[in-house]
Amino acid sequence: MSGNPDTAEIGMIWAQTHTGVIGDAGAMPWHLPEDMAHFTATTRGAAVVMGRRTWESFPAKYRPLPGRQNIVITSDQHAAEQIRELGGHPVASLDEGLEVASGSAAEKIWIIGGGQVYAEAVQRGLADLAVITVIKSSASGDTSAPALTEDWELTQRDPAAGTHQGANGLEYRIETHRRNRGLTETTSPSRHAVLNADQGAARSADQGADRKADEGADRSADQRQDQAAQATSTNLMMLGLGGYLILPFLALFTVTLGFVLVLNDRILPGLAFLFVAQIWVAGGLWAHLKRRRLLQEIKEARGASATPEAPGAAG
Ligand SMILES: NC(=O)c1ccc[n+]([C@@H]2O[C@H](COP(=O)([O-])OP(=O)(O)OC[C@H]3O[C@@H](n4cnc5c(N)ncnc54)[C@H](OP(=O)(O)O)[C@@H]3O)[C@@H](O)[C@H]2O)c1
Repeated sequence: MSGNPDTAEIGMIWAQTHTGVIGDAGAMPWHLPEDMAHFTATTRGAAVVMGRRTWESFPAKYRPLPGRQNIVITSDQHAAEQIRELGGHPVASLDEGLEVASGSAAEKIWIIGGGQVYAEAVQRGLADLAVITVIKSSASGDTSAPALTEDWELTQRDPAAGTHQGANGLEYRIETHRRNRGLTETTSPSRHAVLNADQGAARSADQGADRKADEGADRSADQRQDQAAQATSTNLMMLGLGGYLILPFLALFTVTLGFVLVLNDRILPGLAFLFVAQIWVAGGLWAHLKRRRLLQEIKEARGASATPEAPGAAG
């Protein structure tokens, strides 16, 4: 994520409740230290681009965010001077912010908020990556996450199913979404209306409908994950039952019967039973190998989701 903003990959990173709230009264209405650490680790060394209100939401001692080039968008000259005095880099627009970021020594560019800036970035297709921490919280707020348009796809989920639990009990997951530039822009007018909406304005009926649709999609993704996990554990159980109990029992029974027949001079039926026993043994072996492969796949999937390619979440 470096170089010209027209070609460089630009990431967005935020944390939201499962209903889409990202902020309230200039702050985030939850406390999740794990997400803060995640945000810091992800954006360290990068150029971070933010709106003036997000800049002001950071405690004074974290302004500018250490170890990152802080680029702050404002149209207010007085605010720009203050930002500069504190060590931030004021710019007059998101475009200018991205240009400054791409010209800097930083290798990565993250748009870190807030609502107004995310909305512009999504609406204008400026970013290709979104790393979102989704927190199970019923907190309400005055600032919402942007609705990702149809050309965005969920590419990774950490954990693959269910949630992490923070030390304070808050449950969360981290999603990575990527924009598929190849897809036609089929964004509906109502979505654009949502993205353009002023943060202070009353929520429109369109926004409500969009958010419901997003929540529905979110829930059905969760359900699909749960169903897949359930199907996998059923498979594991059936393979274990067949491979380690039923088939060995059948093999033992058939072998015993075969030997009894052979010993009683009923050679042909006895040999037939011994042959059938081999089929049970082969079946048991197959079930064992299949089960082992399934377990390996699960292990690999867990490993992949524990090391997201682009971690992040705004803190
Ligand atoms: N949960 C998260 O991950 C997360 C991340 C970041 C922020 N937040 C929350 O989001 C809230 C802040 O978001 P917000 O939407 O209110 O504000 P914001 O996007 O942070 O900042 C908006 C301000 O940035 C400037 N700006 C933005 N776009 C501009 C443009 N194209 N041209 C000129 N100036 C532009 C303007 O500053 P001037 O008025 O000075 O011109 C505008 O008032 C806070 O509650 C914060 O805690 C949450």
